[in-house]
Amino acid sequence: MTIGEYQSLAAEVLAGKEKIAVLQSRLREVEDKREAGRVFNEVKKELEEREARKEKGAATPINDVTLPAAKRDKGHKHPISQAMEEIERIFAQIGFVRVRHPELDTDYFAFESLNMPPTHPARDEWETFFVDNPDAPEQKNLVLTPHTTNGDVREMLRLKSQPPVRMINIGRCYRRQQDATHTQMFHQFDGLVIDKDINITHLKGVLDHFAREFYGPDVRSRIRPFHFQFTEPSFEIDFSCHLCHGTGKIGETKCRFCKSGWHEVGGAGMIHPNVLRAGGIDPDVYSGLAFGWGIERTYTLKSGLNIDDIRQFYTNNLDFLGQF
Ligand code: DAH
Repeated sequence: MTIGEYQSLAAEVLAGKEKIAVLQSRLREVEDKREAGRVFNEVKKELEEREARKEKGAATPINDVTLPAAKRDKGHKHPISQAMEEIERIFAQIGFVRVRHPELDTDYFAFESLNMPPTHPARDEWETFFVDNPDAPEQKNLVLTPHTTNGDVREMLRLKSQPPVRMINIGRCYRRQQDATHTQMFHQFDGLVIDKDINITHLKGVLDHFAREFYGPDVRSRIRPFHFQFTEPSFEIDFSCHLCHGTGKIGETKCRFCKSGWHEVGGAGMIHPNVLRAGGIDPDVYSGLAFGWGIERTYTLKSGLNIDDIRQFYTNNLDFLGQF
């Protein structure tokens, strides 16, 4: 074998087409042993260096393109926005249409049309923000609406007093309250159905549908007698606790999440005849069901996170918001 042929063989080894062991064994076939030895040593050294570079590279993950990329933080919708979308979707399944009514409204829609005349004491329950408009002093009696029930008579009028009405009004509300379970700005939704022969069983069916879809297949609703000015009869709504399934106990110990097996979430009832009249609808022909409650609280119960201060929803603390 000539030295030229030996060099070609060396090139093949470097290109990975031939093994170094072959190069070594054919060394003795070359006449110029000195030169062949030098070629062999060079090839060996080069291969060793390549190996060393590979090992060093493997220790530095950035060079390994087959590794999964480092996880990047990704944003998501605010938990209250997520809840609003889910509530809209759940009620759409049973024919409710989402509508929006003003946050800044007149006293008339927030109170008076809801069977609460100006001096009625029931108004005190809503810690209302009253708003002056210096640019238009003739606009009196403006309030930041303390509940989304302000949309009830508005919706009847929007539909020109022509049932059927099937709305879900989701929006912001305001009250002069601030503590671990209240924020001055919060969210509510009100549902309203008006048609011929609407009765309490329809209300119960709607609430059970929501309970199942929002909280889980074995969560039930319960209604207890209560009082609201705009409904008669009126109820408070409870949902069974999704952790202890309404028993109040997990094993032998008291459920720490609910204590009694049920969570109170909101109010409901059959629309008061005076409210139907305010919307131009004849209470002798039509009847309606209504319900409403706060999203923050509803959502807190769902997540099972035991959020001890709902003000955290509005602090922009990513450690908190990232949990959702
Ligand atoms: N607006 C009431 C509140 O903020 C809740 C409520 C009760 C809404 C009964 C309703 C209803 O639509 O029928 O406390």
